[in-house]
Amino acid sequence: MYYPEELVEEVRLKNDIVDVISTYVKLQKKGSSYFGLCPFHNEKSPSFSVSRQKQMYYCFGCGAGGNVFTFLMEYENYSFTEALKVLADRVGVELPKTEYSREAKEKAELKTVLLEINKLAAKYFYAQLKSEKGRAAYTYLHERKLSDETITAFGLGYSNKYSDDLYRYLKSKGYSDDMLLKAGLISADEKHGAFDKFWNRVMFPIMDANNRVIGFGGRVMGEGKPKYLNSPETPVFDKSRNLYGLHRARTSRKPYFLICEGYMDVIALHQAGFTNAAASLGTALTAGHAALIKRYVKEVYLTYDSDDAGTRAALRAVPILKGAGITAKVIRMDPYKDPDEFIKNLGAEAFEERIQKARNGFLFSLEMLERDYDMASPEGKTAFMREAAARLAEFDEEIERSNYIEAVARTYRVSAEELRKLVVRTAVQAGLAKPVERPKPTAGRDKGKEEGILKSQRILLTWLIEDDRLFGQIENLIRPEDFTEPLYHTVAELLYQQREKGTVNPAQIMNHFTDEDEHRRVAELFHTKLPKLSTVHEKEKALKETIIRIKQYRLDEASKSLDPTDIKGLQNLMADKRALQRMKELHISIN
Ligand code: UTP
Ligand code: MN
Repeated sequence: MYYPEELVEEVRLKNDIVDVISTYVKLQKKGSSYFGLCPFHNEKSPSFSVSRQKQMYYCFGCGAGGNVFTFLMEYENYSFTEALKVLADRVGVELPKTEYSREAKEKAELKTVLLEINKLAAKYFYAQLKSEKGRAAYTYLHERKLSDETITAFGLGYSNKYSDDLYRYLKSKGYSDDMLLKAGLISADEKHGAFDKFWNRVMFPIMDANNRVIGFGGRVMGEGKPKYLNSPETPVFDKSRNLYGLHRARTSRKPYFLICEGYMDVIALHQAGFTNAAASLGTALTAGHAALIKRYVKEVYLTYDSDDAGTRAALRAVPILKGAGITAKVIRMDPYKDPDEFIKNLGAEAFEERIQKARNGFLFSLEMLERDYDMASPEGKTAFMREAAARLAEFDEEIERSNYIEAVARTYRVSAEELRKLVVRTAVQAGLAKPVERPKPTAGRDKGKEEGILKSQRILLTWLIEDDRLFGQIENLIRPEDFTEPLYHTVAELLYQQREKGTVNPAQIMNHFTDEDEHRRVAELFHTKLPKLSTVHEKEKALKETIIRIKQYRLDEASKSLDPTDIKGLQNLMADKRALQRMKELHISIN
């Protein structure tokens, strides 16, 4: 849904950032800003600052920053639209209602009701566990070494021995059989009528990233089949797009997740302090899971069961994660079955050691491949190396492939040069590469240079926002089109427009970007780490160098793409180059 920019701006202006953030973070006034402990990383002394004047926040420790919308998007994991709705609600601004189709409206209503039912059921199960009837279940959980705190944190419960008490309870709350069936909590047949799906089991409510109960897993206490019974997929429960424990793992602020197989593994890990653990819900890891994980971290440690099935599951998960741009490492649990048993026997410290010793996912897959070959015989090892080369050939990025070739060569004590040749030959045979593929000698350097220029562009934008007197000095020298990255270009245009109209207001510029990814990148852009400069003279010098670098790059790019018959373009370029020359001799003063 698209909302007019004026409306978005109205919502932003009415929600003072200090007031909003104060409800989440304890802030103290220091000078013109407010400071508190950063909610986005662990810290002991406050480096999280909020400016009432700029209506922006920024953390000097971890670099998180943005306007009031960004804060809610980051803290609550809302989309831009969700953040907008919550803040509009907060100050009583009415947003235009979306014209939903009847079908869409019914679907949304159904979801709301199903979530309500699930929440009631979770509360009911929890109360049962705490009641006299739940004693055996409570004992079961205690014997599995779960503390009261953990039981509460994960909202564990008990579905008691009556076969229809949940059904009757939910009916008493006014829900129809049809809805209860859709929620997956009851079954019905002609002979027995309606009855509870879960019966005499320890209950694990499954939450989505926003803490809403979307389904359940129920375990028999002791032996029995099936060991776990799970909610069927419902309009609110999509197993391939949710992870057990994610609602807690996502706020752990660690740069990686521990992904394991079972409910109990997640809970045991959290209890032992590994609060970044989550599990796929009794299914293999899917691309949907990987995309979900990617929203929070770029690295995953797979801590699957040590049996064959677990190993195979880990092997399948590695390429799926890689496909989403996530690096995978593999942690072995042997001689124990799974993380739960490992921790029970060896404790958290030993687990931490395993994390440190985690195997890179690709090397792990080769290690497993060894089992299919007779590595002691020359033929066996050669055949193995051929398969390894085929897998190495699949790395698209040259530098990555090269690094892996070296790592594999070291591990298997073969010459890296020989292995490289084998990889190229395999790639050619498989049609993956052209035979005369030569690395472009400048490719790497260009990339580095481009990164450097982009950084200069970011620095200049941050400078302009920090100190708008700079505009007076540079607006004739640097124009929005000198910012070559499209997103920066747009931001620069908006900034220059604001400047022409009067005051620079970065928090308002952020409203322009409602795509989550862009919004975050713009927030970053306004908080680029500036070089540490103590004297005015140093600052002037740095500013001048930055401007010249940006201009020079733009002119270089322009001359590269200039059509040689375009006389006018050529003349403009020459004029620009002369201007650049003069710029080099100019003194830029910032006082
Ligand atoms: P495991 O069999 O490894 O069980 O199944 P576990 O997690 O170690 O459980 P405990 O320690 O014996 O209690 C791993 C996961 O596979 C799903 C569940 O999500 C479980 O956590 N599963 C397993 C089922 O859905 N149904 C089953 O019958 C068994
Ligand atoms: Mn287990």
